[in-house]
Amino acid sequence: MYSYEWEQLQTKLPQWVEASRKQHVHGQVAAYIPELSKAPKDALGITMMDGRGNTVISGDCGCVFTLQSISKVFTLILALMDNGENLVFSKVGMEPTGDRFNSMLKLELVEPGIPFNPFINAGAIAVSSLIAGNSIEERYARILQFLRLLAHNDRMDFDQDVYESESATGHLNRSLAYFLMEKGILRGKVEDVLEVYFRHCAVNATCADLARMALVLAYNGYDPIRNTQLIPRRYVQIAKTFMTTCGMYDASGHFAIQVGLPAKSGVSGGILTMVPGRYGIGVVGPALNRMGNSTTGVHLLETLSRELDWSMF
Ligand code: DON
Repeated sequence: MYSYEWEQLQTKLPQWVEASRKQHVHGQVAAYIPELSKAPKDALGITMMDGRGNTVISGDCGCVFTLQSISKVFTLILALMDNGENLVFSKVGMEPTGDRFNSMLKLELVEPGIPFNPFINAGAIAVSSLIAGNSIEERYARILQFLRLLAHNDRMDFDQDVYESESATGHLNRSLAYFLMEKGILRGKVEDVLEVYFRHCAVNATCADLARMALVLAYNGYDPIRNTQLIPRRYVQIAKTFMTTCGMYDASGHFAIQVGLPAKSGVSGGILTMVPGRYGIGVVGPALNRMGNSTTGVHLLETLSRELDWSMF
């Protein structure tokens, strides 16, 4: 840690967390996946980790939550490692949509009908179908193994209740997947692809897991603690670019201006972000704003970026 920041963080982080926690009144816990509505609305926690493994934690870091859309960063990277850029980008585009994350509007309106990017649900479902493996079990096992490797946590696995809750109610995702199948974008059986997708969205994590995974992205695929290159630099560059342009959905422009860091949010209230070359950061705050991002988490990251001058831009 840089000493000035270390000092600032030790003394100020708890009060910044408490100030941001108040923002929960402006948000709602996601309820469209019924099981997610059980999360504590006023929780807020953060873990930061530097390249030597030093951590700073504050707030409700013990919260366990599901990755949801945060998993899409890692399925994209794995799909790139399995297939290369050309194949992946023949199935999914590189542009933000300006629509909600589960919208199907542009799929039919804009030629050639491939999902605009890998972080909207349609794009992430297409990416799930590109993960190598001969069965649902094998493909999910490869994703889980990759997440565990990056988080350095062999206990990670999917939450059966959240998985079942989404599988039972995910009609919109099903319709997106059937549309993609019709267009020749999906590989394999639709229901198998959805099963892999629902499972990786339901993988449990803590802020510490997010911070550890983000640290590897902050170091361009290199794990500074284990001294190994885990991901080719180019694929991390692609993932971080998507995180900057589409990681916070329709609020990505706002987040780029107010925080200025690559980030990915999920509807369980998690945010994975990083200060490139310096820290991996995991935040959780289940109250979401209209865009589906954590109100408390975004507020906290805005404060940190402003106070510690973190914007990349
Ligand atoms: O497919 C879904 O709707 C969820 N499993 C994930 C969506 C999500 O996390 C979007 N995030 N803001």
